[in-house]
Amino acid sequence: MDSSYPRGDNLKLRVKDVFIAGALPIHTYIFRKSEFGLTYEFRLQNVIDMVGFLTSIVGPSKTGKTVLCDKVIGQNHYVDFIGNDFKDTEDFWVTIANRVGISLERDHTEIRKIEGQGLAGTKEEITTSITESFHSNKDKVIQYFINNDLVLLLDDFHYASSEKQLEIAYQLKDAIRKGFRTIIISLPHRSDDAIRKNTDLGGRLNLINIEPWNKDELREIAVAGFGKLDMEIDLTIADNIAQESLSSPQLMQSICYNLGMLLNIDNTATPVMPDQGLLVKAYRMTSLNLLAYQEVARKLKTGPNPRGQKRKTYMTIKKEEVDIYELLLKAIAEDPPTVSLSTDSIKRRIDVLLGDAADKPDRVKIKTAIDQVQSIIQSSEPVYQVFEYKDDEVYILEPLFLFYLRWGIL
Ligand SMILES: Nc1ncnc2c1ncn2[C@@H]1O[C@H](COP(=O)(O)OP(=O)(O)OP(=O)(O)O)[C@@H](O)[C@H]1O
Ligand SMILES: [Mg+2]
Repeated sequence: MDSSYPRGDNLKLRVKDVFIAGALPIHTYIFRKSEFGLTYEFRLQNVIDMVGFLTSIVGPSKTGKTVLCDKVIGQNHYVDFIGNDFKDTEDFWVTIANRVGISLERDHTEIRKIEGQGLAGTKEEITTSITESFHSNKDKVIQYFINNDLVLLLDDFHYASSEKQLEIAYQLKDAIRKGFRTIIISLPHRSDDAIRKNTDLGGRLNLINIEPWNKDELREIAVAGFGKLDMEIDLTIADNIAQESLSSPQLMQSICYNLGMLLNIDNTATPVMPDQGLLVKAYRMTSLNLLAYQEVARKLKTGPNPRGQKRKTYMTIKKEEVDIYELLLKAIAEDPPTVSLSTDSIKRRIDVLLGDAADKPDRVKIKTAIDQVQSIIQSSEPVYQVFEYKDDEVYILEPLFLFYLRWGIL
């Protein structure tokens, strides 16, 4: 069935058309307000056409940077590259031309001819000729983009080397004045300084900072989506799902999709309201798709190498014998799920987990354990960068990890 088919006829929307976790959700797209009370869509729409300006979108992973561009520009109107598509050995414009299929044949011939002559001529002559050839490549690409109403989208820009970033910034500075429209997307705290702090681009940048999603915004996904499926979801249930999703619209979409499946909405005229048991089932079902975090959780709860020494263990009120690292992860996974936890609140959670046990880890011991886990995280691959310990506070960087910790099989 065509997922964009309007309601009002006999075609009932299906759960898979409504809750979309991996692409642009047509029926559950939420317009969020950014600073100054304007929606992100309105702002992007307005800045993208400003001649002489570059648009820079920065936001945490999976907050909707790509679907924002899909929504505002449309997938057929942008050509996207990721930072590491640009190799140091290849000219920026040649990389783009190759992708969109513009022939640069003539220029290559010219270069070869000039190089041949160059053997007899001076070095300077050669360099100038090549640069001119690149100028014409550049103009060709710019004209192609303008004629076809295309926008260049540079995603994950932080993956380009800093030299390449600088070169791209330099190239774009001139191109944007000629009406070449470009959007650069990057993650916060990752280096895209070549763009944001580039004095050449000073006053020519439109910055859009995507804020993390809050609970009310996340809840709208459930309310809108189940509404489209002719079911008025209880607000307490929508809230519960939003709380579990932490700040992730993707997680919210996934949980709602699984809940819709469990309720068999597609084949039921009047679905029942889910109870707590069914919600838990939906969470467990959702965690099955997040197996990548199983390994992460295992590594972190193993802690540093004990070097042959036996670690002290604690007995929880559920009669599980755990060491300090297992205890720490259990505390982080406790109710309510939250994006940040102070050392003191982790201690309080640990105290509850251990009930009236005589011997509980003190604050110093807990702090040391968090520091140790933080060093494991820092020396591991990107998938392990799930939280950060800073100013006495644990910040969850990856909502999917906390969700897995709470509902997945450890
Ligand atoms: N405005 C929105 N309304 C509803 N759902 C959304 C919205 N924005 C994002 N989502 C959900 O979150 C998912 C992830 O969004 P998207 O891929 O755009 O994030 P991203 O910031 O580009 O991620 P990455 O950093 O990995 O590139 C979407 O596929 C969709 O399910
Ligand atoms: Mg993206």
